[in-house]
Amino acid sequence: MEINQLRTILENLTLEEKIGQLVQLSGEFFSQDKTMIVGPSEKLGIKEEFIPNVGSVLNVIGREKIKKIQSEYLASSRHKIPLLFMGDIIYGYKTVFPIPLGIGATWNPELIEDAYNIISSEAVSEGAHVTFAPMVDLVRDPRWGRSLESTGEDVTLNSVFAKAMVTGLQKNLDEENGLVSCIKHFAGYGAAEGGRDYNTVDMSEREFRQNYLPSFKAGLDAGANMIMTSFNTVNGVPSTGNKWLINDLLRKEWGFEGVTIADYAAVRELIDHGVASDEREATKLAIEATVDIDMKTNCYASQLAPLIEDGGVDLKLVDESVWRVLLLKNKLGLFENPYRGIDNNITIDIDRNFAKAKEVAEQSIVLLQNKNNILPLNSKQKISLIGPYADSKSIMGLWAVYGQEEDCTTIKESIIKRSELKMNYALGTEIIEDVNELGEFGSHSYKGTENTIERQKQLRDQAIKIAKESDVIVLALGEHTLQSGEAGSRTELRLPEVQMKLLDELSKLDKPIVLVLFNGRPLVLTDIVDKVDAVVEAWFPGTEGGNAIVNILFGKTNPSGKLSMSFPFNEGQIPVYYNHYSTGRPKETSNHSGRFVSKYLDAPNEPLYPFGYGLSYSSFKYTNLELSDSQMTKNTHIDLKIEVTNNSDIDGFETIQLYIRDIKGSVVRPVKELKDFKKVFVKAGETVIVNFSIKESQLRFFNQELLWTSENGEFEVMVGTNSKDLLVEKFVLSS
Ligand code: BGC
Repeated sequence: MEINQLRTILENLTLEEKIGQLVQLSGEFFSQDKTMIVGPSEKLGIKEEFIPNVGSVLNVIGREKIKKIQSEYLASSRHKIPLLFMGDIIYGYKTVFPIPLGIGATWNPELIEDAYNIISSEAVSEGAHVTFAPMVDLVRDPRWGRSLESTGEDVTLNSVFAKAMVTGLQKNLDEENGLVSCIKHFAGYGAAEGGRDYNTVDMSEREFRQNYLPSFKAGLDAGANMIMTSFNTVNGVPSTGNKWLINDLLRKEWGFEGVTIADYAAVRELIDHGVASDEREATKLAIEATVDIDMKTNCYASQLAPLIEDGGVDLKLVDESVWRVLLLKNKLGLFENPYRGIDNNITIDIDRNFAKAKEVAEQSIVLLQNKNNILPLNSKQKISLIGPYADSKSIMGLWAVYGQEEDCTTIKESIIKRSELKMNYALGTEIIEDVNELGEFGSHSYKGTENTIERQKQLRDQAIKIAKESDVIVLALGEHTLQSGEAGSRTELRLPEVQMKLLDELSKLDKPIVLVLFNGRPLVLTDIVDKVDAVVEAWFPGTEGGNAIVNILFGKTNPSGKLSMSFPFNEGQIPVYYNHYSTGRPKETSNHSGRFVSKYLDAPNEPLYPFGYGLSYSSFKYTNLELSDSQMTKNTHIDLKIEVTNNSDIDGFETIQLYIRDIKGSVVRPVKELKDFKKVFVKAGETVIVNFSIKESQLRFFNQELLWTSENGEFEVMVGTNSKDLLVEKFVLSS
């Protein structure tokens, strides 16, 4: 539609009609069908007569459903402004990829861009317009269940993935193609105190800008058209009513012209936060912060009109918000085709999509331990496959709300397909003692079998029996789906008791154990690693999980995943992350002796497995780190090269990681920061030379005046296979 026609529509809208464009409700307001509910769902108090004005719908995706709601809506609408359909298509629609924490472990943004393009085409063909993805929050606290939705603890890695995901989703975005990306949660949500979901966030502006904001900027620079506010406070003010954050920083400083949406019920929650005394004040705060759409509350619907009528809010603000929403609808061509995607007959090649999901799952799997090279297994070994995840289809993780479990392949099914493999199977244990205590989420609701002590023992006995007759035990354990994800915070990050009991008994049999883990966050594995031989971290791997795991176990695929988040030694260390500051009393180098250095009395400072860590069946050796120069200026750069040799007879991928330390700054600088990485294929026995270029822009940080700048002086550059095992050189930046 021509822009002046769109203007005319805006000008002809009544105040109520305008406000409607700024309200988002879920499907039950439009249809009698049962729709997806992923948050609190009490009655909102929305007046029946307001519903025909509402501009967008939450989490109704699917051709028939959308067609029905859209056509009924348009039939009774005066201006025929189509509804926007938005949903949580976070890491898959029909084809479900691994959870984002696993995606982070691929260190392969090109692959992930392709994956998100698949997600986009599948969702668009089912009528979706907008996805609330990617979540680009940085997280250093695995107690937070939403670690599952993040690509991890590092600002550079998160920014690279934000760009890849947004680009994949919005590729060729026009009237026919592409899904609008709404990045979230703006901002700082990953730093919720104590890792407790929805909790307070408080940090310095320097930290906020240095580590928590860049992934959002990267997503917006890649073209994301929408952004969602977070539930937490930023400098004392909840994001959804934070004028500094949304209006001053996001819109004025960064120039964002797209649509902002409040997270689920966040406008009304300004009252619970204690910055608004009623819905009227909450509405005023949010609209004045330039939050365009109110998701699932009655605030904008009931309060904006009186506020405008009595001069409490300037109509101009509402007009600007409505205009942004109309522009987005127009960009998608909805005025011409309200059934975008549905009528386009987009062909979905499901086999190709599943193959891509397998590739991503394989690259996301992290080999954490492999004593005596017990892996890969060979087809002559008789395997006992044991555990609640050995034959489970609940392997998509909490936020795959549209994925179908029946599409998932389990480990057992994948082994059975390969007739040459010999295997016996036993459940061994349920995932947790009592699943009924975990509640429900979206379509995830579980009713446990009564798990009596006798039944638990019986299950263990069966497992022990088959284990005794085998050469090797493959034990598939993990968290319950409902133990991570939104509202899935935990303070104990170990495997559930019943699973530990099984593991303890199996470890007494003196048979090699390969542990395969399914989980939505870094777990504490310290009590486990000595009891098993290999540890394969499979996350929630998605539709093709079983096939990917079996390929890894039997060496058809060489593991290449590397952690994008540290695995703590114990819960008391949290937050534990690689790019921390040095402190005035660093444990290794302080002049102080003994007690008075920065350390714990009862645990190491280091995590069990650091950021960037992951083994391969190949063995890589790093040598000859060389810099083209030991000096650089703002206008020059240094070329760096390193030789990486595959000292094994198995081809493999290796991710070469480059870190930099700014030895001295006007503000304290981290002990190292990831600046670049390359995932390369190295053939057995061969050496590759890997080149990087160090530029002044990589040395910048927020100084005392919060200016983004570099400072002259000495730097260390470190290159290696993870954030701990590194070769080091030095260089100097001067004017
Ligand atoms: C979550 C968001 C999600 C929204 C809509 C909220 O509870 O925090 O990430 O997009 O619900 O379902």
